[in-house]
Order: sequence, then structure tokens, then C-alpha cells
Amino acid sequence: MSTSVYIIILPLMGALWWFFHLRSKERRSKLPPGPAGLPIIGNLHMLGELPHRDITKLSQIYGPIMYLRLGSVPTIVISSPPLIEQVLKTHDTVFASRPKTQASKFLSYDNKAIVFKEYGPYWRSVKKFCTSQLLSTTKIESTSWQRKEELGLMVESLRGAAAAREVVNVSEKLARLIEDMTCRMLFGKSRDERFDMSKVIPELACLNGLFNVADYLPILGPLDLQGLGRRFKVAFKTIDNILETIINDHEEDARNSNVKLNRDFVDVLLSLQNDTFPGFEQLSKSIDQSNVKALILDMLMGALDTSHNSIDWILSELVRNPRVMKILQAEIESVLVHNFNWELPDGSSHAEMDMSETFGLTMPRAKHLCATPCVRLP
Ligand code: HEM
Ligand SMILES: *[C@@H]1O[C@H](CO)[C@@H](O)[C@H](O)[C@H]1NC(C)=O
Ligand SMILES: *[C@@H]1O[C@H](CO)[C@@H](O)[C@H](O)[C@H]1NC(C)=O
Repeated sequence: MSTSVYIIILPLMGALWWFFHLRSKERRSKLPPGPAGLPIIGNLHMLGELPHRDITKLSQIYGPIMYLRLGSVPTIVISSPPLIEQVLKTHDTVFASRPKTQASKFLSYDNKAIVFKEYGPYWRSVKKFCTSQLLSTTKIESTSWQRKEELGLMVESLRGAAAAREVVNVSEKLARLIEDMTCRMLFGKSRDERFDMSKVIPELACLNGLFNVADYLPILGPLDLQGLGRRFKVAFKTIDNILETIINDHEEDARNSNVKLNRDFVDVLLSLQNDTFPGFEQLSKSIDQSNVKALILDMLMGALDTSHNSIDWILSELVRNPRVMKILQAEIESVLVHNFNWELPDGSSHAEMDMSETFGLTMPRAKHLCATPCVRLP
């Protein structure tokens, strides 16, 4: 947290000290163990730039179920596989709703889609619909040619870089590849200069993942200490315009009865308002344009940073561990035609690779992975 935040918080602490002090005593007895907190801010001061690391350290002291108070938000941290299974599987429905944050209200069309919608009939229906229309095995298989095409383009460009001995910004390339694949599945197009998402999606992911004081100390919300209000507005306006353009294009196609061989996700969502989808009659009635936008945004946000950051980390670890890379290359040799070795720029050794991370929803690499591809001859 920045120092300006502390400067505001510290005077408030004194004034409200007695209030929390009196109330916390009787409550504590029923809660799991955890570190003692300060008035008002609770345990917030124990979390630094990488809160997940700090929480891990604390849980090693206080055990697999731990209580923290983050500002005014009581928080239980679980960190053992059996407990996690209890929460995410056994008692899934109890914990299915996510806490709403300032970012979620601002950036998710007032929580109208899946990720931030509270558990209930609408959520169940819309999740089932998306799973069957976008994420089912048949759907995924029937669109695999599109992803293969995009992958082919990337392999071609890597071959070009290998021939020219050029350093490739691998992180950036991966992000583009995932974006192109996802956009093709969602809106049937991989690139369109009218909607460049390469800046706004990372910004949205950042805004959704960053530590917002207003979520933990709502009384400070109106002060907008971190200046997030403006960033929320700008990012929301940008993505809203993009989504509107995409929807208008698809509506135009529907009006002109353009026959599409491959109906994309937006086509399907829009036709939900007209066609009958057995089992989704109720959903048809409750969907309007803002729900459609919210759902597309959920899928974009769900798919992009998660996928490309996972691959980014996996590839970085492989480049850093040549022994493991060799094993993998041997395994995939029989099924893959294209296969690259990666050299780090300026002759730096794989052992010196910077593997630091930045905090966020999907924990991206702090430094982009840059390396020169070398074609491996079979
Ligand atoms: C490697 C890639 C991915 C990772 C690591 C990942 C990770 C996650 C995690 C950890 C959750 C939360 C689960 C929970 O709270 O129970 C989640 C939820 C979700 N993911 Fe993914 N995801 C990935 C890819 C995708 C893709 C490709 C899509 C969509 C096309 C997607 C859409 C969603 C949605 C809509 C949710 C919310 C579901 C709900 O609220 O029940 N994700 N993902
Ligand atoms: C790699 O690409 C990212 C995203 O476009 C950019 O921010 C970064 O500066 C690039 N890194 C290098 C070393 O070119
Ligand atoms: C839905 O029906 C309306 C009215 O018949 C029509 O104008 C619109 O294009 C249809 N939309 C889709 C996506 O089929």
C-alpha cells in the first residue's frame, strides 16, 4: 500500500480505536487463529507488494485455517488441500458467490454475468448455457481448426525470427495468440483495428486484481485515494464501445440474414432472445443487451490473461530448466512437427532468468520473456 494511504488511515485509527477494541474482544473467541490486528486496518499492514506470499508465510505460522481482518472485511484463509476441497467441492454452493468489489460493480455491468453474479437460478442457467454453447467438448472440437490456423501463423512467424536470428518478445506473442484464438471463438474474427483489445484487457485484469483500499475500508471509498475512479471509467468506456461495435456487427448480419457456417458465441447469445433453446426459456426472457455484453466480457476476462500467463510461466520454467525441456521435447517429437529451442538474449544463462512476479488476478511475470527461437531439426 502506498504511504499516502497510511497518512489518511493513521489519524482515523486513533479516533475509532475504542469502538473496534470493545467489539473485537467478544468476537475473537469463535474465530480460527490468526495474527493480532491493528484497529481499523486490522492485518492490512502485514500485506506488502505480493500479498499472496505474505499470506503464505502467515499461514505457515497460524495453520491451514487462519483468520485475518482486512480493514473491515473478516477473512478466512484456507491453505490445505483437504480444506480447499471442503470449500470448493463439498460445500461448493455455500461458497459459490464471490464478494463484490468496487471494480466488479464498475467493470462487470453491475455483476450481470457469471463471475460476480450471486449463486441462484439465473447464475445456474446462464452458466449451463455458456458451458453447452461455448465450452462443451463438441463445440471445442468443432472449432479446433480455427485455433490450429492461428497457431500456424505464430509458428510461421517464429520460423521467420529463427531464420533472421531475432529476439522474440515471447510473452507478447503468446498474449496475441491467445487473444486471436479467443476472439475467433467468441466473435468469429481474430483482428479488427476497430477493436484493439491488447491494452484494455490487461488494464481490466489489472483493475480487477489490484488491491483497492475502498474494498477493505469502504469509508475511504469516496476519497478515491488511489485515483482508481478515473481508470475504472476510462477502461469501462473503452471496452463498452468495443462490445457495442461487436454486437452491432452481429445484429447487422442477423438482419441481413447472412448465412454463417460457423455461428460464434455472440451469434448464439443474440439468438437466445429470438430462438427457442429447450430448457432456457426463462433465460431468454431475462437477457438483454447488457447481460450479453457482461457475458462476453466474462469470457474474455476468463480466457485471456489466465491462459497466456499460464503458458508464459510454463515456457519460462522450461527455458530455465533445459533438462526438463529435453524430456518434454522427446515426448512431443512424435506428435509435433514444429519444435523450437530458445536462446536467451545477450548470451545470458538460463540460471540467471528473472522469475519475479507481479501481484494481480493471474500473477503475470514481472519481466516479459524474450528469447530467440532456433528450429530443432528432427
Ligand atoms: C489456463 C487457463 C485458465 C485458468 C488458470 C483459469 C482459472 C480459473 C479459476 C481459478 C477460476 C475460479 C474457480 C472458482 O472460484 O471455483 C475460474 C473461473 C472461471 N473461468 Fe477460468 N481459467 C482458465 C481458462 C478459462 C477460459 C479459457 C475461460 C472461458 C472461455 C474461462 C472462464 C471462466 C469463467 C466464466 C469462470 C467463472 C466461473 C464461476 O463463477 O463459476 N476460464 N477460472
Ligand atoms: C514485450 O511486449 C510487451 C507488451 O507489448 C511490452 O510492454 C514490453 O516492453 C516488450 N518487451 C520488450 C523487451 O520488448
Ligand atoms: C430477432 O428478431 C428480431 C425481430 O424479428 C430481428 O429484427 C432480429 O434481427 C433478430 N435477431 C437475431 C439475432 O436473430
